[in-house]
Amino acid sequence: MEKQSVLAKDQQFISDALKLRFHPMTVSKGKGCYLFDENGRSFLDLTAGWAVANIGYGQESIAEKLKEQYAKLSFTTQLSAPSQTMVDLAEKLTQIVPGDFSKKVWFGHSGSDANDLISKLVPAASGRPKMIAFMGAYHGQTMGALSLSGHSAQAKFEGRGNVVKLPYPNPYRPFSGINEQLTEQTLHFMNEVFATICPPEETAGIIIEAIQSDGGVVLPPADFLSALRKICDQHGIYLIIDEVKVGMGRTGKWFAFEHSPVIPDAVVLGKSLGGGLPISAVVGREEILDSVTAGHMFTTSGNPLCTAAALETIRLIEEQGLITQAQTNGDVFMEGLLSLQKKYSFIGEVRGKGLALGVEIVTDRSKKTPAPEITAAICYRAYELGMLIYYVGIYGNVLEITPPLTISREEIAKALHILDQAFHDVESGNVNWDKVRQFAGWA
Ligand SMILES: Cc1ncc(COP(=O)(O)O)c(C=O)c1O
Repeated sequence: MEKQSVLAKDQQFISDALKLRFHPMTVSKGKGCYLFDENGRSFLDLTAGWAVANIGYGQESIAEKLKEQYAKLSFTTQLSAPSQTMVDLAEKLTQIVPGDFSKKVWFGHSGSDANDLISKLVPAASGRPKMIAFMGAYHGQTMGALSLSGHSAQAKFEGRGNVVKLPYPNPYRPFSGINEQLTEQTLHFMNEVFATICPPEETAGIIIEAIQSDGGVVLPPADFLSALRKICDQHGIYLIIDEVKVGMGRTGKWFAFEHSPVIPDAVVLGKSLGGGLPISAVVGREEILDSVTAGHMFTTSGNPLCTAAALETIRLIEEQGLITQAQTNGDVFMEGLLSLQKKYSFIGEVRGKGLALGVEIVTDRSKKTPAPEITAAICYRAYELGMLIYYVGIYGNVLEITPPLTISREEIAKALHILDQAFHDVESGNVNWDKVRQFAGWA
């Protein structure tokens, strides 16, 4: 089918509720770090489809495993009869998620349904009704996950009243305007919350992203997660870390929280876990995961195909040394972006860890005024030049770089070259605003 015909049918038949579009891309094929449209044009993919394709596209061994698994057992509902791949995957996940305590695993289809489990089971396990989450957080679209989220894109929906949001400590945009002692300031804010609307003895859990991704690739101060852990321990509050986007090796460790000396009570996984197949998981303390029987069930959860794909994905990550590669290649990418920052005054900050990188675009470096239109134009121009990149952030002004972990040095050099060209073109006004404005992004 021609690309134009796919786009026309997309417009005619696909719900806008499912659309987060930055340019008129369609995809017919994928290999390695490249996606191809129906016209055969290749695009270097810096998105990994929102951090899903960590192992790249078209891994032959996954195709073989899926064929083998489908022929042997295409489906059985794990709710009522477990099969080998599900229990093997659960066992493997309890091994790679740190924590010297009895762990159990739950499986779902998306980061959203996994965070919905947190919203139900953490209060159930603790017998306390309230949760603390963070402004700017993106935990998903279903009602429980939505209630835990604090992203501007979700503020248009109703949530639940039992979740209190704290400012996420953002060193580039500190909520008090002062970057020093940001951890202390945030904890001070939390104490105010404890003393008023959310007493610790009523608080079941705190959920946080180790790197706030859709919120703008924001890294908290290095001591923040351990300070949070200490508070949780003091008050018997569970600490939940959402690793849906940056987990599974992207930051140079299995999980982004492992850059801090912190052990969460539960870890939420999704996106890249299945190497492209839909699967999510919560790995955590037995007392949380067993707090309700038959309490968060989806008929096709943990199905043989998705769990077989996840097992093979983990095997590939280990075999190909992709976690170390994410760290070393991430450093190279970061260095290149920092050089570009010297050249373009609209780059306010470059930040990230491993291959979870963000470039914050501002109109004015000293005032840090967010520049969402320039950001959208850069994404569009990069697309025209043959590269896919999306933007995130509560102001919609952070370019997000989350390529497959398999990206090579040559591909990184090519990506930096295209970015340089896109930055140059946008800076010099070479932008077709009519085309750019056809795409709503996160609006
Ligand atoms: C940190 C985080 N948690 C949860 C989700 C929701 O995942 P899904 O879109 O698979 O429901 C996302 C999606 O972007 C995410 O980034």
